[in-house]
Amino acid sequence: MTKISKIAVLTSGGDAPGMNAAIRAVTRTAIYNNLEVIGIREGYRGMIENLYTPHDVSDIIQRGGTILKTARCMEFKTSEGRQIAYNNLKAIGVNGVIVIGGDGTFTGARIFNEEFDIPLIGIPGTIDNDLYGTDYTIGYDTALNTVVEAVDKIRDTASAHNRMFFIEVMGAEAGFIALRSGIATGAEAIIIPEVDDEVEKLNKLLESGRRQKASNIVIVAEGDKEGGAYKLANTIKEHYPNYDIRITVLGHVQRGGSPSAFDRVTASRLGYAAVEALLDDQKSTMVGIQNNEIALVPFRKAVKLHKSVDRNLLEIAEILSI
Ligand code: F6P
Repeated sequence: MTKISKIAVLTSGGDAPGMNAAIRAVTRTAIYNNLEVIGIREGYRGMIENLYTPHDVSDIIQRGGTILKTARCMEFKTSEGRQIAYNNLKAIGVNGVIVIGGDGTFTGARIFNEEFDIPLIGIPGTIDNDLYGTDYTIGYDTALNTVVEAVDKIRDTASAHNRMFFIEVMGAEAGFIALRSGIATGAEAIIIPEVDDEVEKLNKLLESGRRQKASNIVIVAEGDKEGGAYKLANTIKEHYPNYDIRITVLGHVQRGGSPSAFDRVTASRLGYAAVEALLDDQKSTMVGIQNNEIALVPFRKAVKLHKSVDRNLLEIAEILSI
């Protein structure tokens, strides 16, 4: 194994609050260990197009987005693209890379590490929290708090008018944001891709007429089988014309903002652990958090295995919304 002497860090896929805190932790830990460190801009595209930057990590721990910018890069999915990226890294003497992102990022990293000898270590950064092998991904906590703040405001106006709101939250394939924000805001129903009979339950609640003269909040994960908040709300409107219904799609507001204390600390721990993992000759591995301890999870597992929603939380949500 080559002794690690110069590392690169990049962010890829959807940005998440706390990515800057992770970049800072990686950079400072690298410097502490006498490693050279460079930033690669715009994710894997930067590896292919030589977009390097010496980055200053002062004054970024509190900022949302990512100072290194991010991208979803199609070229890295081709072997030609990855070969160019490898040649470029070799040419500037980089012998270890830390990638911060979600499952798309780690899929690319896993393939790269099967083909080439530069070790890659991943830090989970996505608001979706849908990565197997880590209890939390960077950005999830902040996004949850953003959703809760928005839904609380909607609840005020919903109560004033006795209205029912369908609120769509992010989570293309997973209901983690929907489930926790639903519990935290006392939602009457939570519709997520992982559960099949939630719409049935909502129908039962509406049929009973119990909630007609009150506010109702239905949180819908964008990736739900029903086709999102608009589609579901329209179906419900047809069947229950007595309910006064409105729809809000929270959208990208969920991805921005200053990271919460929890995300800053998680990002700092994971950034530090990622550099340590490189120094310990690890590769093709994600650093995660399991039961509040750092865990090393092979990319193969992190991207292939499915993270399940907490059944206990589902039960709590159901009981508390009667
Ligand atoms: O970051 C993950 C995610 O927020 C998903 O929940 C969402 O579907 C997607 O990104 C949106 O991505 P984009 O900004 O590329 O439209």
